[in-house]
Amino acid sequence: MSSPNATPLHTDPNLFAGVDVYAVAGNPIAHSKSPVIHQHFAEQAKQTMYYGRLQPDVDAFAQAAKAFFAAGGKGMNVTVPFKLDAQNLADVLTPRAQLAGAVNTLWKTEGKIFGDNTDGAGLVRDLLAQGIALHSARILLIGAGGAARGVIGPLLEQAPKALIIANRSSAKADELVKLFADLAASKEVALESRTLSDLDDPTKTQHPFDLVINATAAGLTDESPLSSQAVSNIFVPSSFAYDMVYSKTTAFMQQALQRGARVSDGLGMLVEQAADAFLLWRGAHLVNLIDPRAVLAGLRS
Ligand code: ATR
Repeated sequence: MSSPNATPLHTDPNLFAGVDVYAVAGNPIAHSKSPVIHQHFAEQAKQTMYYGRLQPDVDAFAQAAKAFFAAGGKGMNVTVPFKLDAQNLADVLTPRAQLAGAVNTLWKTEGKIFGDNTDGAGLVRDLLAQGIALHSARILLIGAGGAARGVIGPLLEQAPKALIIANRSSAKADELVKLFADLAASKEVALESRTLSDLDDPTKTQHPFDLVINATAAGLTDESPLSSQAVSNIFVPSSFAYDMVYSKTTAFMQQALQRGARVSDGLGMLVEQAADAFLLWRGAHLVNLIDPRAVLAGLRS
């Protein structure tokens, strides 16, 4: 895979005759690791393809994506702030994309654009690969925006004992509990909402948790959503703290480390969601040829 493209922020499939072209769309996108991740998968599975970047203006995703597919683009990953736009663009949504309320993977088949969401499956696989038991676990999910919503379905599928969604403002967490109530009931999971301030009060939540996932945007600005009181209620040394933000030790991770808990950033989730997208595009039969954990180890080294 090589780029004849002078600008890394735009990918024109017309420039790659005879090569299947993919791209990740986001704004900003310059620092995305998706191109290098997919390059590794393409090499492992011996696929000839090009994977570039696309940075549409924040209000111009649909236009850019339509032009990309019209020019012969085969598939696209979608990141902040376009996952909802991608859902609206798709002609056909997978059930899990519908439930997630967002799309991170698009592809075109027989004239139709399909949308899926591989984020939650990616998170679950990364957690399992790190030895975190999800079945019967008590899980605290912090945040109730798009990132949180995208992973609730796959987490519930693992049949934890409880999934508590805690958010700064209560309305959004309440909404998510309603939306996923049927799935939670079918898996016999206690699905409940809390406000972040409830976490300060030991009578309002049965502390501590086996797994605490930070799906808020707070990590991006070096803040933590948790007060020091909440931190001492939530974590014990056997807890595992997972921040969806990647490539740094966030304030949330530092708080968990201070309580003796184990921590992870979200780089493994990024690699695993990319693996699922790659298999959707190039064929599920390639599953044994790609090695997401080796790609992850390479990125970390
Ligand atoms: P995304 O799609 O990345 O989830 P979003 O839909 O804007 O982005 O949601 C951001 C989430 O991070 C929300 O749960 C938000 O809480 P509110 O719903 O109360 O706004 C949460 N969030 C952002 N900054 C935060 C902060 N500093 N502390 C706690 N929560 C924060």
